[in-house]
Amino acid sequence: MKMISICNKKGVVGKTTLCKNIAYKLALENKKVLLIDLDPQATITMQVNNDVKNDKCILDIIASKSAVKLIKIINLIERTKYKNIDIIMANEELNKISATINATYSEKEKYLLSDIIYQNNQEIFENYDYVLIDYPPTINELSVSFLMLSDVIIVPINEGLNSIKGLMDLQNTLNHFCREKQKNIPNIKILLNGIKEGKNLKQILNLLNEKKLNNLSKSKISYSETFKTIENNLNSIWTNPYYWRQKQAYEELIAEII
Ligand SMILES: Nc1ncnc2c1ncn2[C@@H]1O[C@H](COP(=O)(O)OP(=O)(O)O)[C@@H](O)[C@H]1O
Ligand SMILES: [Mg+2]
Repeated sequence: MKMISICNKKGVVGKTTLCKNIAYKLALENKKVLLIDLDPQATITMQVNNDVKNDKCILDIIASKSAVKLIKIINLIERTKYKNIDIIMANEELNKISATINATYSEKEKYLLSDIIYQNNQEIFENYDYVLIDYPPTINELSVSFLMLSDVIIVPINEGLNSIKGLMDLQNTLNHFCREKQKNIPNIKILLNGIKEGKNLKQILNLLNEKKLNNLSKSKISYSETFKTIENNLNSIWTNPYYWRQKQAYEELIAEII
């Protein structure tokens, strides 16, 4: 199993769209994919399910110390409308994660919850080829712990300077906690998403260079109106011959991360 996180401390940069499309492409290739939706807005949850009865979420398993031991993630996993893609859904309860964690766990345990969840459910996790995690822009203790456990973190950025700030904030957070918890800093891949060639792109590339943010993915996902129209119908990008540019970019990206 390989764990891939899609995160930036900035919203509307294309995290959820990337997560869905990577999942869909891997699933097409007969890989078994588990999505974990950590965003209380539950965007990916709604987009991959026909009828959403999202009364369970990852919070259930960390709600108490006994829950961590007793609840198995298999009880949280649901099938989606797509073959080979399962999901641990999100709902608004996720807004309570930080408060719950702070009331229940010690400083030492707080940022290592995903390790505990993994260890208690190793067999189930290892049943999947890929675990893909979609994050909200505000990340809590559980998010940090999943980020530290990830094999790779894809950080989408667009032409807005805010998204680079989101990337730098995320790197600072990870550097801080990895040092504190004596963990290796996960492999970060910066991905340009929603890009139009031109002056803005040059400015962004210069800025990345200046800040020594050089772990940039070779592929970039160009701007496409299509992304808005296919939000609830993922297969269209992969079955429509016109979207070859996006498909190619996705294939390159996936080749880099798998
Ligand atoms: N490459 C792209 N080109 C054009 N629109 C995009 C692209 N990627 C994402 N979008 C659109 O931008 C909006 C935000 O994307 P989303 O994936 O929900 O971002 P996030 O999860 O980071 O908040 C959505 O309407 C989505 O369709
Ligand atoms: Mg999102």
